[in-house]
Formats: sequence, C-alpha cells, structure tokens
Amino acid sequence: MSFKSDYRKVLGAFTTGVTIITTQLDGAYYGFTANSFTSVSLDPPMVLFCVKNDATFIDALADSKVFGINILSSRQEPLSNKFANPALLNEQRFEGLKMSQSELKCPIISGCLAYLDCEHFKISKAGDHLIVLGKVKSFDKYEGDDPLLYYAGGYRGLQQ
Ligand SMILES: Cc1cc2nc3c(=O)[nH]c(=O)nc-3n(C[C@H](O)[C@H](O)[C@H](O)COP(=O)(O)O)c2cc1C
Repeated sequence: MSFKSDYRKVLGAFTTGVTIITTQLDGAYYGFTANSFTSVSLDPPMVLFCVKNDATFIDALADSKVFGINILSSRQEPLSNKFANPALLNEQRFEGLKMSQSELKCPIISGCLAYLDCEHFKISKAGDHLIVLGKVKSFDKYEGDDPLLYYAGGYRGLQQ
C-alpha cells in the first residue's frame, strides 16, 4: 500500500453530501462537482469549498466573483458524474439542464435540495488546491428527495 492510497481510504471514511458549484460570466455557465463544501460561519453567514488549482472554474470565478452551491438529491447522481467529467466542456455539462438564475446570476439546478447564493470573499492557496471562502447572500431549501451521499469513493443513499 502506498501513502496516497492509504490516505485516500482514510479521507473516504468521512461521509459527505455532494454539490455542484456554479457561476456565470458574460452569459456563459461554469460548474463542477464538489464534496469539499462546508459551512464556516453563522454570523455573518460564510461557506467554503476547495477546488484544484488548475480547474477551469477558478478563472471564471476570479472574474464573476460570485458562486452558487447546489446541494444534490439522491436522484442527481448522473448530474454529479456529468459535472465531474473533465472530458466535458462547461457548455456540454449545462446542455439540456433545467435550471433558473439566482439573484447573483448563478445557475440554480432544478431538483437540487437546497441552494446558496454567495459572493466570493477570499481565495487561499493550499497545496494543489485553492480554498474559496464566500459570503452567503441568500439561500433556498426545496422540498423533496433524500440527499446524495458520498462515502469511500462511491455514492450512497440514506438507507444504505
Ligand atoms: C463526488 C465528487 C466530489 C468531488 N469534489 C471535488 C472538490 O471538492 N474539489 C475539486 O476540485 N474537485 C472535486 N471533484 C472532482 C471534480 O468534479 C472534477 O475534477 C471536475 O472535472 C473539475 O472540473 P473541470 O474539469 O472543469 O476542472 C469531485 C468529484 C466527485 C465525483
């Protein structure tokens, strides 16, 4: 066993939800799947996520300065895979997707469990990733399905 595979196994023992983080710049949509989302502060409301430092998303975010957190439901596993596929361009990820636009003009994906509209506040370098801290400007909780969970490198449902 190598350090890397052991380390991955240990991190995989931590169960998370799954999000798609979105932004919009000059009419073009950007988004990727992330489970590094976490809440940071209640007052003022702040959240963070980590993104690899060569991600296409980061260039768009540097200009748009806003992002949306879409918390995925158990029915949205195919979408999670689509937005985690490095072979797909951002425009291909959003093709045919039902969505609306937030106050900050970020895509809200239909069928997500909850949505947070955020203004980017600070980006810090951390190894091969960046930590993006944002201020939450508004949010919505939608009724419906169970959350999509991620554990030990695979998707799970609440019943499993
Ligand atoms: C469940 C899941 C969670 C992920 N979480 C993150 C994350 O928190 N940060 C990250 O940079 N990539 C994460 N990824 C990988 C990205 O979604 C993937 O590398 C994607 O291709 C990045 O977008 P890009 O190709 O536009 O750079 C995750 C993938 C999956 C399937």
